[in-house]
Amino acid sequence: MALWSGRFEQGVDSFTQEFGASLNVDKAMYKQDIAGSLAHARMLAAQGIISAEDAEQIAAGLSKIENAIDAGDFVFDINDEDVHMAIERALIEDIGDAGARLHTGRSRNDQVATDTRLYVKERIASLIAANHALRQVLLEKAEQHFDVIMPGYTHLQPAQPVLFAHHLLAYFWMLTRDYARLSQAYLAADVCPLGSAALAGTSYPLNREMTAQELGFAAVSLNSLDGVSDRDYLLDLTYACSVSMMHLSRLCEELILWSSAEFGFITLADSFSTGSSIMPQKKNPDFAELIRGKTGRVAGSLVALLMVMKALPLAYNKDMQEDKEGTFDAAKTLEDSFICMSGMIATMQVNSEAMGASVKKGFLAATDVADYLAAKGMPFRQAHEVVGNLVLTCEKRACSLEDLTLEDFQAASELFEADIMDCLTPSAVVGARTTFGGTAPEAVATQLKEAKRLLAAL
Ligand code: ARG
Repeated sequence: MALWSGRFEQGVDSFTQEFGASLNVDKAMYKQDIAGSLAHARMLAAQGIISAEDAEQIAAGLSKIENAIDAGDFVFDINDEDVHMAIERALIEDIGDAGARLHTGRSRNDQVATDTRLYVKERIASLIAANHALRQVLLEKAEQHFDVIMPGYTHLQPAQPVLFAHHLLAYFWMLTRDYARLSQAYLAADVCPLGSAALAGTSYPLNREMTAQELGFAAVSLNSLDGVSDRDYLLDLTYACSVSMMHLSRLCEELILWSSAEFGFITLADSFSTGSSIMPQKKNPDFAELIRGKTGRVAGSLVALLMVMKALPLAYNKDMQEDKEGTFDAAKTLEDSFICMSGMIATMQVNSEAMGASVKKGFLAATDVADYLAAKGMPFRQAHEVVGNLVLTCEKRACSLEDLTLEDFQAASELFEADIMDCLTPSAVVGARTTFGGTAPEAVATQLKEAKRLLAAL
């Protein structure tokens, strides 16, 4: 019999019982549920709503249940519907009337909202730690390979050379924004709805400040209807996870390209690669592909939750039971992906010679040659045309800009002088980009310093 069976003449059909249950998902929140019940019972006693002895019995009973669940000795019964009912049932079975007084002035509606907020606050704290660790790895890798130059791309066509460190740090900044989004989701979750009861508050003289404080919440929700039906904090979290997975998927895509035979820019460690069951020579970047693939599922969870919440009238609706599975999965997937990515980056080998060879192809100094002419007074559009023609000459001769002679340059424009030859090397091109935020070593060093300062401040 369910704990709400009083007004029913028949039990629920066994199929619908299981269909309506959320136990398999929400039992993950048993610690939060117990903490919430403990705080509620203590507050009820402090307010004189239940006796101190009842509160003590409840506390002892809950701690027994927690130990049993920790030890794997607790029998969850799908007929309990959810973790709240499972724990309350076990408590009443154990301590009787005192246990049956726990639900005074409380509803599962404010209970589940409280549990979920507590649970995601913990998940977000570990996500932030994993995000921090990955940013640390990116920083270290950037520092270790500070002098490596690679081709930078637009449209995946060679564009201009950049420092490999500059490229890695671009991901550092994406992940720093992800950190900000995760922190925002944490703030959104850090409000206690306990005491909202089913929807309208309760006639018992609850002390909501007391429970919120005991549970470590920063604030108490101001409207009981909103308290039980707000799921914005879960949307904030799934959004933060989705954006962060999208960022990881972009990095994955680059690792996959870079580790291909065609690029050869990096070699992933054996421990982060897999083989083929048929092709003996294969070494596949499976884990980068997998993170890229999981991005779809996480983004799906965001859309799913938006659709669950769309057009729901106030206050609690059973639809909202569908809020946890995707959100918890998104958080777990992102955390695992952060950990996997950290390992992959930390252990990968950086093949600077392959990058160096690639930088020599693709006329990456072309913009600088045009800039050279523009600096000597030729309008940039005209300079662009002149250099375009030089590139065409190189293509016809199957050579690079560096292979052209001074005479070749001067045939294209008399503004060229001997010093043009110094502008053509990858390190000259990189070194010229001293703009704040640019790829010149001194600009990247400034960036690196700021990144380090930020991480250390956390
Ligand atoms: N299992 C429910 C959920 O996850 C708990 C709240 C149920 N409340 C109710 N009135 N049926 O949303």
